[in-house]
Amino acid sequence: MSESVPQRIAHLRGEIERHNYQYHTLDAPLVTDAEFDAMFRELQILEIQYPSLATPDSPTQRVGAVPLLSFAKVVHRSPMLSLNNAFNEDEVRAFDVRTRETLGVAEVEYSVEPKFDGLAVTLTYRDGIFVQGATRGDGEVGEDVTHNLRTVRNLPLRLDSGRLTKPIPFIEIRGEVLMFKVDFIALNRQQADRGDRLFANPRNAAAGSLRQLNSRITSSRHLSFLAYGAGAVEGFMLPETHAEQLEYLQKLSVPVPQERRVVHGLEGLLAYYREIGELRRKLPYEIDGVVYKVNNISQQIKLGYVSRAPRFALAHKFPAEEALTTVLDIEVQVGRTGALTPVARLAPVFVGGVTVTNATLHNEEELRRKDIRIGDTVSVRRAGDVIPEVARILLERRPANAREFNMPRTCPVCGAHVTKQPDEAIWRCSGGLFCPAQRKQALLHFASRRALDIEGLGEKLVDQLVEQQLVLTPADLYNLYKLNLQTLAQLERMGEKSAQNLLDAIEHSKQTTLARFIYALGIRNVGEATAKELARHFATLDNFMTADETRLQLVPDIGPIVAQSISTFFAEPHNIEVITQLRAAGVQWPEQAEKAVQVLPLNAKIFVLTGTLASMSRDEAKLRLETLGARVTGSVSQKTDYVVAGAEAGTKLGKAQQLNIAVLDEQQFLQLLSTNEISSASG
Ligand code: IVH
Repeated sequence: MSESVPQRIAHLRGEIERHNYQYHTLDAPLVTDAEFDAMFRELQILEIQYPSLATPDSPTQRVGAVPLLSFAKVVHRSPMLSLNNAFNEDEVRAFDVRTRETLGVAEVEYSVEPKFDGLAVTLTYRDGIFVQGATRGDGEVGEDVTHNLRTVRNLPLRLDSGRLTKPIPFIEIRGEVLMFKVDFIALNRQQADRGDRLFANPRNAAAGSLRQLNSRITSSRHLSFLAYGAGAVEGFMLPETHAEQLEYLQKLSVPVPQERRVVHGLEGLLAYYREIGELRRKLPYEIDGVVYKVNNISQQIKLGYVSRAPRFALAHKFPAEEALTTVLDIEVQVGRTGALTPVARLAPVFVGGVTVTNATLHNEEELRRKDIRIGDTVSVRRAGDVIPEVARILLERRPANAREFNMPRTCPVCGAHVTKQPDEAIWRCSGGLFCPAQRKQALLHFASRRALDIEGLGEKLVDQLVEQQLVLTPADLYNLYKLNLQTLAQLERMGEKSAQNLLDAIEHSKQTTLARFIYALGIRNVGEATAKELARHFATLDNFMTADETRLQLVPDIGPIVAQSISTFFAEPHNIEVITQLRAAGVQWPEQAEKAVQVLPLNAKIFVLTGTLASMSRDEAKLRLETLGARVTGSVSQKTDYVVAGAEAGTKLGKAQQLNIAVLDEQQFLQLLSTNEISSASG
């Protein structure tokens, strides 16, 4: 090493900041991810080694790139158009007639697709590489959101031209950025838990997430992309029909809608409209209609454009899924984590294919913001196609005797007092698992499909098991077999056969995975994805249970809030007891799953050990270093990266100092081991 340690640290910090900016802000990385990671890790190790040189403004101390100050403007090569809308069959018929007449044909071939309810974007690829992405803006000029689009997981950063013979020098791909219904629900749940503002629908959530100056926020939001066509191309020719163009995009690894079809004539259009209308609820994303496009491109050109919309395409919209009804009452539901959710009881109303009788009001703040009162006439919407909610109130219809609702100060189920963190919007019952509502929800969660998956253990049954005190904790489920089968069979809606099936399902659930088990515990803020990360990272339950908050935060995506929820959970003796009982009952999983191939944290670093370590033998030190990817050699040379000096270190220490090689004392060495052992426990 020619630089002094402080010089090296300063140099690394400068370089890391520069590359961060290049990558995240300018979108022009100059080094590979691996090179970047190596610099970052070297800095981390030096800061551990020389704690006095660690500073709060070091890039190791923060997660996040320099956010942009504003979005750059992008002028679209070819304008991003809008579509003419049809709201009924007559308008579709008129479109088909016009099209036939202009083209002078008896029947038109159409390419048809869902109309995605997201945010239009255009993606530019040069030589197959994603170089720029922009929002639609006013159709002529949009905003450069390249850095955010890079975080959209299914958006190809490189086109896969492997199966094509011709290169693709330049192409614009147009489509929509969406948030899937499941991701929307999870996001709003998280927003509610944190007392943050809720998004009204997946479209707003997608828009709010894409237009973030800080790409790390976008990255955490789980957006998806679906293409509906190509814009400008250069240096090659696209196929001659729209359907073939989508096919072509798919070959390039671009996501396109599976629900696309080629149909003929008006009948074909209307049949497709009905088909998608029925499918709508089952689609993973929201759509607000279907789009009809004349399939043949030369016919499209012949039809041309009127003002800002093509004459060759038409959006056939679905009726809005909103309906008016009255609020009969407002009640409070108690959730698994004790959260009190106000719920509006509604006069039954048919919205988007189902009868809705209640709507979530989310939390006290939302309730106040919307000022919903008992007796109000409200418009109900099925957000994310799943949870009905109140879209707006018709104030002009508010009756004189409309009543305001106040959140109760005690739990409506168990009577325990309710509490609220100052920075949260949510009131919680303090009754914990003594509150039957929380107990029931905890059991249902434990048995749910993505947790321990106990088939047949539904709401009605859990209600009875809890009310008759047959089951108090998840561990009690595994004692049910000890009961007389008759006791179970006498429960409402049970017979001997279903009682036996239930016992079998409970027995079957004992073989599980660590990720499922962690998820099943129902720790606040630990959803399925987080549980998987935790299981991968810690590999064993004991590792996980004993990790402190600092270690927990080494797991990808785990921040201080989640870490705190986890440590609070394990600080509760009752929870430990239930876990112990579950394991004793035989709930188990393969503890040491095979490790994924990974670059080890001390990969190829060369260590020399000298002197005696108080805490471990030299063999153990060697083994632990090697496990982390390091090499341990016998003599100090220019190539040595670190010398670990125990008590009574000999000439090797002198040599290290002479060659200006980093020396770790025992404590620093232990710290280095523990930091890296924990961070490499994933796989
Ligand atoms: S084609 C030349 N296809 O709807 C026509 N648009 O109302 C360009 N949209 O801005 C659009 N799904 O963002 C087309 N399958 C689809 C679509 C779609 C959603 C959006 C698009 C456009 C808006 C027009």
